[in-house]
Amino acid sequence: MNAPSGPLRIGAARSDADVIQLSLVVPTFNESSNISALLRELAAILDPALGSAYEIIVVDDDSPDRTWECAEALLPQMRNLHVIRRKGERGLSTAIVRGWQVARGDVLAVIDGDLQHPPEVLLALWKKMQQGTDLAVASRHLQGGGVSEWALWRRAVSRGAQVLGLLVLPGAVGRVNDPMSGYLMVRRDVVQGIELSPLGYKILVELLSRCAPREIAEVPYVFRERHSGHSKLTPAVYGNYLRHLLRLRFAGLAPERFLRFATVGLSGVVVDMALLYFLSDPTSLGWGLTRSKLLAAELAMVNNFIWNDAWTYGDLTRGEYGWKARLRRFLKFQSICTAGLLINTILLNLQFNLLGMNRYEANAIAIAAVTGWNYWLNLRLTWRAAR
Ligand code: GDD
Ligand code: MN
Repeated sequence: MNAPSGPLRIGAARSDADVIQLSLVVPTFNESSNISALLRELAAILDPALGSAYEIIVVDDDSPDRTWECAEALLPQMRNLHVIRRKGERGLSTAIVRGWQVARGDVLAVIDGDLQHPPEVLLALWKKMQQGTDLAVASRHLQGGGVSEWALWRRAVSRGAQVLGLLVLPGAVGRVNDPMSGYLMVRRDVVQGIELSPLGYKILVELLSRCAPREIAEVPYVFRERHSGHSKLTPAVYGNYLRHLLRLRFAGLAPERFLRFATVGLSGVVVDMALLYFLSDPTSLGWGLTRSKLLAAELAMVNNFIWNDAWTYGDLTRGEYGWKARLRRFLKFQSICTAGLLINTILLNLQFNLLGMNRYEANAIAIAAVTGWNYWLNLRLTWRAAR
């Protein structure tokens, strides 16, 4: 079977779907030593529970070890098995979505192809789905769950990734105990029609963030050791995770807008730095650092406000052009930035006076530190109100 192409969007179930209730995707890359055993275990568990009401869809990324061939060898015995050999596109999360795109069931599921996810947990997940939940997640961080023999550093990395997710996307990632899980079931109508754009490994983070399922259930599981083959977890996977989080964070915020915001921000940095030089540098006016910084940052903020109001958020402020509306926005902006300005000045002073850093380096760090603060609060309070 060929992989679908085009947008990563899952459509409605086809009308012949009544027979299939559960579609389980098994993403694989170089799992030739595991796939046959896994497929047999899956059949042994799902046949008694679902009969012919389920299907298994292996999505193999044209593995060099010819995993797809091993899976296809079982086609004659397993009538509910489909094997996709995907070429030209790679990656765990997109493989899952491609599999779900050809799925016929009302419940879409995924399990790793390396036997690290114990197959019997499928029955517990399935039960939750039958009880009407939107999303059922197998979790290592529940009573009864865990990891088998993970070294401390591995646990720390896993937890670190979770904390990072919580910081960037608290509303979505905070909804489950194990947002890093790749073992789950979701109702089709939760994802249907939404264009997905996952990067790397974490399909669950994508679902939580873009699809906002109403009811979520979790069941415990113990992540087993790999007994064969190798993990595909490379440093690039961590990089992709970070990019994925940021992509979700900025979703809905047109990239163009972000580019404008960054350009304006950069112009503000130039104003701030130049004024700091003219006012405080010993070869120039030689004023005190704090006084100079306050003035430099204030003028940089005014610069940023003018450009952001007219350009970055120009579409949001349209129709609210009057001087009164503009002044109101400026006052909101100013009050948010004043707090930022204080942090900014304190940081600069600490670094310059206590750590003995170069004043411009110290200033760059201080500016970077308050940029996030200014950005988010202003987006929320100053320009969102205009929208
Ligand atoms: N099609 C496809 N394409 N499959 C892939 C790719 C890819 O690029 N990369 C990995 N896979 C498959 C593997 O063959 C395996 O079946 C599964 O995805 C998981 O990959 P591993 O490399 O074994 O990942 P892991 O063991 O470190 O992490 C897994 O467990 C975590 C904990 O629950 C992943 O499934 C995570 O998503 C999961 O959260
Ligand atoms: Mn694995």
